[in-house]
Amino acid sequence: MKEKDGKAHEFIEAIAKKIRDEFTGYERYHPAILGVESGKKLYDLIRMKRPNIVIETGVCNGFSSSLILRALEENENGKLYSVDLPVKIDEIEGEGKRGAVIPPEKSSGWAVPEDLKDRWSLRIGNTYYELPKIFEEISHDVDIFIHDSGHSYETMMFEFSSAWAHLKEDGLILADNIDMSKAFSHFVDAKSVTPYRLGDMGLFQKK
Ligand SMILES: C[S@@+](CC[C@H](N)C(=O)[O-])C[C@H]1O[C@@H](n2cnc3c(N)ncnc32)[C@H](O)[C@@H]1O
Repeated sequence: MKEKDGKAHEFIEAIAKKIRDEFTGYERYHPAILGVESGKKLYDLIRMKRPNIVIETGVCNGFSSSLILRALEENENGKLYSVDLPVKIDEIEGEGKRGAVIPPEKSSGWAVPEDLKDRWSLRIGNTYYELPKIFEEISHDVDIFIHDSGHSYETMMFEFSSAWAHLKEDGLILADNIDMSKAFSHFVDAKSVTPYRLGDMGLFQKK
């Protein structure tokens, strides 16, 4: 591993800690980050693939966005489009929801370092409305699409189908929490592609 990628792995651990520290005092809640090991694997994949266009759904505190942007920065190439409809702890107290939330007075992606934001376009809203707008805007097909927003069958299917239609021939779709519904396995079967694992995430390639 190159020295700069070793440093980036330390950066990924530091971002996870920065987010966890901000939850001090809010122990009943959790940030639902991708996970440090999956994050490092995703970083390595982006370094290897050198994508031009990456789209992710589900930003929350900004763990995955930070490591994707760091990989693009090391590649000196590529742009990240992210979509998020955040849930703030102070707005849902008493409602029973505990995870995938951000602390009071923070906004989506607050943990992303300022010096990584040049390659980033963050859209606040529901993926049902925001993804079609992004696909209309970009002039090239997508290299890598990462799903980590709502994990209902309908949302996962919607995101996989719309991403597939705008994905490069050898492009990749990744998804976290693929066991929360049958969407991942149904989609993979319908497209006759081979599913793989990257850390905790599912992954398949368009062909
Ligand atoms: C699991 S968290 C994302 C974690 C992030 N990838 C990370 O590694 O830190 C999911 C985020 O997606 C948001 N979300 C859920 N359903 C959504 C939807 N339909 N459109 C946009 N965002 C959504 C949640 O509010 C939350 O901010």
